[in-house]
Amino acid sequence: MRRGVLVRLVAVGLAAAAVAFAVAFFVPWLPTSASKEGDRIDFVFWFVTVICIAIFALVVAVILYAVVRFRARPDDDSDGAPIHGHTGLEIAWTAVPAALVTAISVVSAVALAENDHLPKRHLRVNVTAQQFAWSFSYPKYKGLTVSQLRLPLNEAVELKMQSKDVIHSFWVPQFRQKQDVVPGITTRLVITPKRLGTFPVVCTELCGEGHALMRSEAIVMRPKAFAAWAKGQQQAAAKASQGVTGGGPGLAAFNTNGCSGCHTFKPAGSKATTGPDLDNLKVDAARAGKPLAAFVRESIADPNAYIEKGYQPGIMPTTFKSLPAQQLDALVQFLTAGKK
Ligand code: CUA
Repeated sequence: MRRGVLVRLVAVGLAAAAVAFAVAFFVPWLPTSASKEGDRIDFVFWFVTVICIAIFALVVAVILYAVVRFRARPDDDSDGAPIHGHTGLEIAWTAVPAALVTAISVVSAVALAENDHLPKRHLRVNVTAQQFAWSFSYPKYKGLTVSQLRLPLNEAVELKMQSKDVIHSFWVPQFRQKQDVVPGITTRLVITPKRLGTFPVVCTELCGEGHALMRSEAIVMRPKAFAAWAKGQQQAAAKASQGVTGGGPGLAAFNTNGCSGCHTFKPAGSKATTGPDLDNLKVDAARAGKPLAAFVRESIADPNAYIEKGYQPGIMPTTFKSLPAQQLDALVQFLTAGKK
């Protein structure tokens, strides 16, 4: 190969690499990582991307060279020269990709193993997924259960995830990892948040009518603020269970059972629209021709007994009939309060 040809090949290759790199680097494909595990995933991502860019540049340079240099001239009807392959080239294009793919698997395996490692000192959070809401409970704080995931900065967290109905998938884009939540088994995920802020929790497994609305938030707080928050929540929950504040256990049941994931209800501050607006229960009960409390109780335990106009049967889970009587009573009381 002449020297001038080689220079042109390299120039074309570098130009192609520059374009590919600009597309990879300057387009914000993913939000900035907010966890140590996310950083490792980003490292693997860039490791693979750089290899891809190098191969892309090589292929573009060779294709352009071949198209220009070996194009058919006008009136050239002759066949190409018979070629029987090139042993050196064949060895190269087998050995180099084999080495690259091996390198990618080793780097990925190391990153995955590190991401699964749970330090002794860690916080455990039990995650429950159901159509169409998340709830998070903290064994360390006597089972304190909330609908937003709060995490202390720089502390490893082990999420233990269970589903009450179908397969869901837990994803916080800033933490990068995705983990399916499968009925019947407990799946886990380790997260070490390294950035303060509020990040979306998204369900990424089509799980039914309200899938797109099955969202929550992950709030990363300074450890002191987190501890203060957890203590405050615990005290509030204790007060509520003693009946000091009105509607406490009802509100708690409303949130932990995921009602807020699908229904609008002003006293709970929820605004979801998958199911009927619960601020209108009195009107709905009248339309169904039933006394309010009985109507509410029936609609929780047997959601398909009466379907509000404009909604479909079979959307609301029928799992609530197995709620503990205490919770069911609290829910009915909460939903019917001040409506008689
Ligand atoms: Cu749960 Cu999609």
